[in-house]
Amino acid sequence: MPLLQIDHNSEKYQQMVQLRYELLRKPLGLHFSDEELARETQDILLGAFEDSKILACCVLTKLDAETVRLRQMAVNKKQQGKGVGNTLMNFAERIAADMGFRTLTMHARNTAVGFYQKCGYRVVGSEFIEVGIPHHVMQKPLR
Ligand SMILES: CC(C)(COP(=O)(O)OP(=O)(O)OC[C@H]1O[C@@H](n2cnc3c(N)ncnc32)[C@H](O)[C@@H]1OP(=O)(O)O)[C@@H](O)C(=O)NCCC(=O)NCCS
Repeated sequence: MPLLQIDHNSEKYQQMVQLRYELLRKPLGLHFSDEELARETQDILLGAFEDSKILACCVLTKLDAETVRLRQMAVNKKQQGKGVGNTLMNFAERIAADMGFRTLTMHARNTAVGFYQKCGYRVVGSEFIEVGIPHHVMQKPLR
C-alpha cells in the first residue's frame, strides 16, 4: 500500500478531496469552499493508495514551529477496520517528526476519539462543537 505525499491540484489531490467530501462533508450537508482548498497549498497532503486509487488521506497544517495539526483524516468505507487508518497515522507522524515538529494535535470528532486513543493520543480539555458535531482536542508528543 503506497503511502504518498500529494501535490496540490494534482489528480491525486482531486481523489483526496472527493474522498474527504464523501466521508466528512456530505453526511453533514457541507461542501468545501474554493478558498478553503486554495489554503491547502500551505499544507502537507498525505494519502494511502492501491492501484493509483486512494484508500485514505489526511492533511497536516503547521500551527507553530513545534506544533502541527492533523485534519481531514478519512479512510474509504470499504477499507475501514483493516489497519489503514493506523498505518497512515504512523506515516503522518513520521513525516511531522522528520520536519521537526514536536507535537501533533487535532480536533477529533467524538466518534473517532477511540481510534486516536488507540494511536496513542489523549484528550485535552472539554468537548466543543465544530461543523455542527461534538469534538475534542487530542494530542501526542512526537518522537
Ligand atoms: C476513524 C477512521 C479514520 C479509522 O480508520 P480505520 O482504518 O478504520 O482504523 P484502523 O483499522 O486503523 O483501526 C485502528 C484501531 O482503532 C480502532 N478503531 C477504528 N475506528 C474506531 C472508532 N471510530 N472508534 C473506536 N475505535 C476505533 C480499531 O478497532 C483498531 O483497534 P485495534 O488496534 O485494537 O484493532 C475511519 O473509520 C474513518 O475514516 N471514519 C470516517 C471519517 C472520520 O470520522 N474521520 C475522523 C475525523 S476526526
